Amino acid sequence: MTVLLRPERPSDRVEVHALHRAAFGDHGDAVVGLLDGLSPGLSLVAEDDGRVVGHVRFSPALLDAPRQLVPVQTLSPLAVLPERQRQGIGASLVRAGLEQLAASGVPVVFLEGDPAYYGRLEFVAGAGLGFRRPSLRVPEPAFQAVLLPAHEPWMTGTLVYPDVFWRHDAVGLR
Ligand SMILES: CC(C)(COP(=O)(O)OP(=O)(O)OC[C@H]1O[C@@H](n2cnc3c(N)ncnc32)[C@H](O)[C@@H]1OP(=O)(O)O)[C@@H](O)C(=O)NCCC(=O)NCCS
Repeated sequence: MTVLLRPERPSDRVEVHALHRAAFGDHGDAVVGLLDGLSPGLSLVAEDDGRVVGHVRFSPALLDAPRQLVPVQTLSPLAVLPERQRQGIGASLVRAGLEQLAASGVPVVFLEGDPAYYGRLEFVAGAGLGFRRPSLRVPEPAFQAVLLPAHEPWMTGTLVYPDVFWRHDAVGLR
């Protein structure tokens, strides 16, 4: 496999949108709406033969810890073109992203997703790490986190999503 992982460029936008529509089906429009509204953050694409075949986006959120607010990151969305799934592209994108975020001092990355998938990528249930989900509509096992080296033991508390997640009704089961 000769897939190149690189930062998203402005010229990738149309392809990235098409990718999410193909991967998310009926939810594609909602995902694209969220994507366009997210604050700037790490955005990586997987490119193969000049074509975008995968994409992951990280964006800022806050951890409402007892001591103080802590800037953290969320992973959403992640998608791989249906015909290119199960080739390790999703996993490579997530791993590359976590590596970069760890290097830039991010303490925790959160996501909502299937533990069967993200458990392989070192995400564990947030509740077991002292974190509280941002909404009761997020099933407890779906609320996952990975601790990065900058995490300190006092960094527990509630994940607070920025307004864009609520505006797009992108929180929990819909
Ligand atoms: C989820 C997704 C990004 C995974 O990308 P990918 O490149 O296929 O993933 P990888 O190749 O790294 O891993 C594939 C493995 O994960 C498994 N897997 C994929 N999605 C899974 C899920 N929801 N639950 C459990 N396992 C899953 C596959 O069965 C495969 O395992 P196998 O090869 O042992 O059978 C891709 O399937 C996708 O775009 N799905 C639609 C959009 C989506 O649901 N995004 C995630 C939202 S949180």
